[in-house]
Amino acid sequence: MKVLILGGTGMLGTDIAAIMEKAGHDVIVHGSQETDITGLDCVIKTAAAHKPQVIINSAAITDVDKCEAEPDNAYRVNAIGPKNAAIACRKFKAKLVHISTDYVFDGEKGSPYTEFDAPNPVNIYGKSKLLGEDFVKSICNDYCIIRVAWLFGTKRSHFVDYVADSLVKGSEIIAVKDMVSSPTYAADAASMISKLAVSEEAGTFHSCNKGYCSRVQLVEEIMKITNKKGPVKVVNQSQWLRLAKRPAFSALKNHHLGLIDKDEMAGWRDALKRYMRYKLNK
Ligand SMILES: NC(=O)c1ccc[n+]([C@@H]2O[C@H](COP(=O)([O-])OP(=O)(O)OC[C@H]3O[C@@H](n4cnc5c(N)ncnc54)[C@H](OP(=O)(O)O)[C@@H]3O)[C@@H](O)[C@H]2O)c1
Repeated sequence: MKVLILGGTGMLGTDIAAIMEKAGHDVIVHGSQETDITGLDCVIKTAAAHKPQVIINSAAITDVDKCEAEPDNAYRVNAIGPKNAAIACRKFKAKLVHISTDYVFDGEKGSPYTEFDAPNPVNIYGKSKLLGEDFVKSICNDYCIIRVAWLFGTKRSHFVDYVADSLVKGSEIIAVKDMVSSPTYAADAASMISKLAVSEEAGTFHSCNKGYCSRVQLVEEIMKITNKKGPVKVVNQSQWLRLAKRPAFSALKNHHLGLIDKDEMAGWRDALKRYMRYKLNK
């Protein structure tokens, strides 16, 4: 299949591209330099030039505090961006696979969110991503919205790298107690996204490594895997001054995938071990 990946230069997009190329698909990878998703003419021009059967939108402003500081930019990329991709998909009869987030939820439920729970974002990042989902649903005939959470992968630095690198340096690790979600290996999410992209499936899916933990438990697990200990400062969100509030409990359950017998996602501990093995051996 011919697949265009917008945000293909990011952490998840890079893994999706690698998996789809390996599977023999004709993959076109665009970052913001090649296609600025905020411009409708630009997205349509790209779609017209390549005529993909599937567009995967992994482009986003993912820095949650930056979204809070620059809301117009967040809404432009995270909401108008998917709107533009949806219009292009409708025009060229392509399927849209749009990547979204656990941060569409408010974190008040106290147990993992399913696709049937009502979103209620608490920060600009979540609000802009939810608006993006809404545009996709209202414009596209053929779409999958795939929500992931707490990604760690090989392309760029993230919380798992911060912890592992701090353990090597012996520097203090700050871990927030009241932030709980489903840590997910970008490679695992990319594999599921690639399968859904070329399938007949449609609708909203959660696709995370199974289970959940707090940032503190994630630090403890990384210490266990690396057999290294270091100073950890455990704080609450109220003591960890950041521009954007984070949902306290945004773990996701892959309920939709489970109902259709397609939930092949591994547990987060297993995924973390595989990532750490890669990191320690590279
Ligand atoms: N990271 C997480 O923990 C996490 C958690 C939940 C959900 N998600 C979702 O997963 C998806 C992928 O996240 P990620 O962490 O892989 O992202 P990332 O590494 O931050 O990469 C972001 C991508 O978006 C592109 N981009 C930014 N502005 C753009 C614009 N105006 N036009 C076109 N492309 C633009 C970037 O392109 P350039 O680099 O070329 O500028 C880059 O390819 C996003 O939808 C995100 O909301 C991520």
